Amino acid sequence: MHIDPLEKKWGYVAVGIAAFFVFIILIDSFIHGIDAPSNVETIDSARLHLSKEFAEDKLGVHVDENGKIIVRMVAGRYGFFPKHISIPTETKIKFRWVSMDVLHGVHMPMTNMSTMIVPGYVSEVTTVFPKPGEYPMLCNEYCGIGHDHMWSHVNVEVKETWSVPEVAKVEKNHES
Ligand code: CUA
Repeated sequence: MHIDPLEKKWGYVAVGIAAFFVFIILIDSFIHGIDAPSNVETIDSARLHLSKEFAEDKLGVHVDENGKIIVRMVAGRYGFFPKHISIPTETKIKFRWVSMDVLHGVHMPMTNMSTMIVPGYVSEVTTVFPKPGEYPMLCNEYCGIGHDHMWSHVNVEVKETWSVPEVAKVEKNHES
């Protein structure tokens, strides 16, 4: 079969581009810690306020009896609750989100913290923030007229000076 040399050249270019994209995906997955969400855990979105885990007084930053930091937040039109959280650098932090109404997304620019929050499911992301600073936590799924105003503040403090916020208290692990 005759293949024109120019066509062959472009064939290599096309395969090269595809290989480059696969390479980027592998770098993101293994070096930047960007993975597909995989937590399949259901919850009744209409009864969050009555749930053991996502009642209003349970939201925010908590330290469990093993010293692990868990952040529980509720997304709803139009905000993430609580509106402000403070967490330490260089520490594993497990975020657990639920939506009280529609589909939302949560994203912290310049970090790998990003996931969809699907009503009826608990979204979970465990990550580490290497750099201190004030980070916005934005909604990145169009959820209605107030979508642009849906965001919270995250204060990432240097590990050594971070102290457990007053609202957080040591608690027993929930069986969920
Ligand atoms: Cu919530 Cu957009």
